[in-house]
Amino acid sequence: MKPVIPLFGFVVTLSLCQASGSSVNGIVKTLPEPFFLSSINEAKRLVDAAYKHERERAKETLPKKNASPSDFLKHLKEPVAGTRSAIRAADYMETTLRLLNKKLLRLVKGQFNLTDILTKKQKEIISKATGCEYQVRSIRCPKNSIYRTITGVCNNRKHSYFGTSNRGYARWLPAEYEDGVSLPKGLTEGKLYNGFPLPLVREVSNEIIHTANENITQDEARSLFFMHWGQWVDHDLDLAPITTTTVSNTEVHCETSCTFELPCFPIKIPPNDPRIKDPNICMPFVRTAPVCNTQTSTREQINAITSFLDASMVYGSEEPLARSLRNQTNQLGLMALNQNFTDAGLGLLPFENKSQSLCLFTNKAMNIPCFKGGDARVTENLGLTALHTLFLREHNRLATELKKLNPQWDGEKLYQEARKIIGALTQVYIYRDYLPLLLGDETKKQIPCYTGYDESVDPTVANVFSLAFRFGHGSIQPFVTRLDECFQPLGPHSKVPLHLTFSASWRIIMEGGIDPLLRGMLVDHAKLMKQNQMVVEEVQDRLFEQIEIIGLDLAALNLQRGRDHGLPGYNAWRRFCGLSQPRNLAELSTVLRNPKLAKKFIDLYGTPDNIDIWIGALAEPFVPNGRVGPLLACIIGTQFRKLRDGDRFWWEAPGVFTPQQRHALSMSSLSRLLCDNTRIQKVPRDLFKVNRYPEDFVSCTLIDSLDLSPWRQQ
Ligand code: HEM
Ligand SMILES: *[C@@H]1O[C@H](CO)[C@@H](O)[C@H](O)[C@H]1NC(C)=O
Ligand SMILES: *[C@@H]1O[C@H](CO)[C@@H](O)[C@H](O)[C@H]1NC(C)=O
Ligand SMILES: *[C@@H]1O[C@H](CO)[C@@H](O)[C@H](O)[C@H]1NC(C)=O
Ligand SMILES: *[C@@H]1O[C@H](CO)[C@@H](O)[C@H](O)[C@H]1NC(C)=O
Ligand SMILES: *[C@@H]1O[C@H](CO)[C@@H](O)[C@H](O)[C@H]1NC(C)=O
Repeated sequence: MKPVIPLFGFVVTLSLCQASGSSVNGIVKTLPEPFFLSSINEAKRLVDAAYKHERERAKETLPKKNASPSDFLKHLKEPVAGTRSAIRAADYMETTLRLLNKKLLRLVKGQFNLTDILTKKQKEIISKATGCEYQVRSIRCPKNSIYRTITGVCNNRKHSYFGTSNRGYARWLPAEYEDGVSLPKGLTEGKLYNGFPLPLVREVSNEIIHTANENITQDEARSLFFMHWGQWVDHDLDLAPITTTTVSNTEVHCETSCTFELPCFPIKIPPNDPRIKDPNICMPFVRTAPVCNTQTSTREQINAITSFLDASMVYGSEEPLARSLRNQTNQLGLMALNQNFTDAGLGLLPFENKSQSLCLFTNKAMNIPCFKGGDARVTENLGLTALHTLFLREHNRLATELKKLNPQWDGEKLYQEARKIIGALTQVYIYRDYLPLLLGDETKKQIPCYTGYDESVDPTVANVFSLAFRFGHGSIQPFVTRLDECFQPLGPHSKVPLHLTFSASWRIIMEGGIDPLLRGMLVDHAKLMKQNQMVVEEVQDRLFEQIEIIGLDLAALNLQRGRDHGLPGYNAWRRFCGLSQPRNLAELSTVLRNPKLAKKFIDLYGTPDNIDIWIGALAEPFVPNGRVGPLLACIIGTQFRKLRDGDRFWWEAPGVFTPQQRHALSMSSLSRLLCDNTRIQKVPRDLFKVNRYPEDFVSCTLIDSLDLSPWRQQ
């Protein structure tokens, strides 16, 4: 089957001679409602059939013997539940417009832009009938809600959908697509942008990013915990799921195909690739799923989780998931724990309930499925799973303590109060402890003192942020370390290459639980992101690698993802941030303070304008005392300021907590959280900084507990 008209490509240029007198607008205005409804119904039939076909195909697929790297990526990014319905609505909308366009072509001659000529009323009819209306329709919110909703809805009472799950990412600059509406930049080989073709992303990755595992520099001031915390925070904010169904082409084989057939956007391999020699191989890449765009009909990407810093990675971003994560059997307000295993008596995350969990493939003898958490990526790496486990335990600890203080509280009240505290703790640790170490001397400028909730601020995560915040990929270490009580290597397999730990839930169950991992994260250093040591081979060549199947390239995925999402290039974002825009090699050398690297960029891209945002921003030298350059400091700072100011439940917002509760929260520490929920008895005071054992560790008894007495109801 051949690729059909690009998703939103309904701008038609037939001929310029337009029938005089009968303007397109005039004709369209008079079209009756049934004209639209019939197109909508037909579109729904087509889309539903495509979904049905996909379901049946999934059922037919025989149980696999092996899983490929892209199966693992898919497992992390597959849309479920409400996300699927939201994407389906976008599919209805897109297909409706395509059909309408076809019909109108028969009625009128001339050039028209469908979104321009439809009346407001007509757009409303379509938006409502396709289910796209939820994107922009405000519902009436309850007056005195005191807890966050799971989806984030009604955090903002006026714009009830601000920051909610399953809505589009915010655009801070207009999208740039190859065709202006939908197709990714770089799709057509040789097409010029600002006079130059875009380089293959794998080539950029090989030339600029590749770093041998043994050739890295330790960050002398940041711990590996600092790296993991970054990913933990990101998983509270954004998740772009992949497209799994297409109406235009029901047989989708992104894994094997090297041609662009929606939703595949395969990563081509340059000649002389150091690893992949077969010229017929591509790295699989699936485009992010679209979301309804009721305004301009350019392609927008869906964020499956809530934007708010609300600990959604613990609790989920949709009601059914949130419910399934709770302990339903009593009124204690607890989260459900694993029913098969404990970590030497302490709780573990429950298993996902799938007939063929992907994690089983990482060690067939062990028979351990993936864990289940508020975010689908919970098992992606071991440190991340450790953090999920830690916060799960803290919830149950808090609920249990609150029950002692307030025996009259029911399960719902205990759950909500514990959840509210977890959300607040997350915010405290991010803004008080993490961001200053990330943004360095730029922190105060980017995130000035809090002055209260501002209803007009839209906290929705920006599309560019979801690329920019991948800066953390530059601080991933190639090895995972497990340490015993004395911080000595744990057994013969204490140090494992990262690629042997992806989705390896069995290692938590069978290799000592989370304490040995956390100890490793405390004393190991983060990798230092350097201009000649950007991202380690373990993720640049061996991401999700399984035996004999070649791994993925995380850097190439990031670059391709930026193009998939239609993000403007490096200089557009420099301008957005009020920074200079280097025009040539000399100016880029100055900005990067590195003529050699600047030359590599110019050799690949021709002009600084075209440099993909992720790599351009990552390559800048750090701001003083920070771990990102000026452009990232601006994008990250802008986002975190909005996330704070536009959050009605921000922990410092008047009325959210009592002054006594606020004081208690402000005195709490991540170190103590570790003490309270593991068997680790000595911890550093600041987990994000580099710490040596035993010099920089103190006994847990010396670290203040979170004082819950202000939660006792009078
Ligand atoms: C072992 C560590 C990590 C691994 C294996 C990993 C892997 C991945 C993968 C496979 C993706 C999806 C790529 C795509 O298809 O576009 C991704 C996305 C992302 N990563 Fe990481 N990552 C790690 C650590 C981090 C860290 C430390 C940060 C931040 C400090 C981070 C931030 C992000 C962000 C923001 C996204 C985009 C999420 C979205 O909006 O969909 N990651 N990562
Ligand atoms: C169609 O019109 C809308 C609304 O004026 C505009 O935003 C959009 O860019 C136009 N599309 C094209 C391809 O010109
Ligand atoms: C490590 O870096 C040095 C200096 O940049 C380089 O000469 C060497 O080839 C690198 N080693 C590997 C294994 O890439
Ligand atoms: C629910 O809580 C009870 C009491 O603590 C416990 O025995 C049970 O295992 C828990 N169930 C789950 C699924 O966590
Ligand atoms: C967990 O326990 C249940 C009930 O005993 C059992 O059916 C299931 O197979 C176990 N799962 C694992 C992964 O051990
Ligand atoms: C697991 O899934 C099966 C089938 O989807 C369902 O019947 C069963 O109740 C689920 N079990 C749990 C513990 O959720």
